Amino acid sequence: MIKLKENIYWVGAVDWNIRNFHGYVTHRGSSYNSYLIIDEKIALIDFVKASFSDDQITHIKEIIDPSKIDFIIVNHAEPDHSGSIRKLIEAAPKAEVIATERCIKTLKKYYGSDLKITSIEQKPAIKLGKRSLSFVPVPMAHWPDSMVSYMPEEKILFSNDAFGQHLASSGRFDDEVDSSVLMFEATTYYANILMPLWRSVKNALKALDGIPIDMIAPSHGVIWKKDLGKIISAYQKWVAGETKPKAVIVYDTMWGSTEKVAKAIAEGIISKDVELKVFNLGANHNSDVIAEILEAKAVLVGGPTLNNNVFPSVASFLAYLRGLKPLNKIGAVFGSYGWAGGAKRITESEMQAAGIELIPNELDFVYRPDENELKASYFFGQLIGEKILNS
Ligand code: FEO
Repeated sequence: MIKLKENIYWVGAVDWNIRNFHGYVTHRGSSYNSYLIIDEKIALIDFVKASFSDDQITHIKEIIDPSKIDFIIVNHAEPDHSGSIRKLIEAAPKAEVIATERCIKTLKKYYGSDLKITSIEQKPAIKLGKRSLSFVPVPMAHWPDSMVSYMPEEKILFSNDAFGQHLASSGRFDDEVDSSVLMFEATTYYANILMPLWRSVKNALKALDGIPIDMIAPSHGVIWKKDLGKIISAYQKWVAGETKPKAVIVYDTMWGSTEKVAKAIAEGIISKDVELKVFNLGANHNSDVIAEILEAKAVLVGGPTLNNNVFPSVASFLAYLRGLKPLNKIGAVFGSYGWAGGAKRITESEMQAAGIELIPNELDFVYRPDENELKASYFFGQLIGEKILNS
């Protein structure tokens, strides 16, 4: 039994083996958190992914008979938090299910229109006995239906997707896992899931401003109780688009020419003492690259022209980048081609569509870059380094 506070328990499931979460590679697995509150009335917060329904019910049964549950709060309709709905309702037939209007519509579309669910417009808060829960809609953090639940008596925020991490662990609290791994996974999670929704996350942070919070219990990963200040200030920094002096070079290469340019640019950036990460897309996943881009000032993308178009791995990365729209970046495009170019122009247009301010250059070379072309690439790297330091 995992206890957050007296009579408040974690009853979720740990998914040690998930490695792909709608296109985001989750190297360390995840968890689907659910919380049980025992008071004069009994409340359950969030379902779990369908394939983990039995784990959730088993954990509840370790504490109470599920048929005694009075309320089930659904903070978000995405199937990782709603999949166990039918099995739970069957196990807890008298429970009143509560969600936002948008969530009710979504749940009915996923699981059937016969579901009986109360809207938070009718019940914006519930009294459980000594404790209570208030519901705060946070639309688009993560879906339009999203909300968080707050327990003022214990100062616990049940934040659903916000402040989550895809991190499977035996410890359920932030002081039970390696803190650098935890912050790395919280960063990767924000970059891949919440980055394009920064306005909504900012609004959610504003809505919660001034509310005393002792503990943040998200729907993925560990519960924040020791490092609350650290994760909240990280979120404030991310929604503000704060960057650090860092560049990321992302490329793929057909016969090594674009790679030579990437390496020359890298040397130029490093010569200015700017932090740099380099990723060949043939060996790295888009979601790992995006995590490094979140706090970087500059993003440089390179690739060869293939059939008058962008190299497939670079095209995939650009589609991902465009969807996530990183804030406050400068960028540049480089590459190589044989007899007719095209990739650089298309890549530049995609980068601009992602909101990145481009630094113009002529680094697009026929077949193999020669010594002068590599020198020009090195000097361009230095220019990027200077721009980063002066930004
Ligand atoms: Fe963890 Fe938006 O679901």
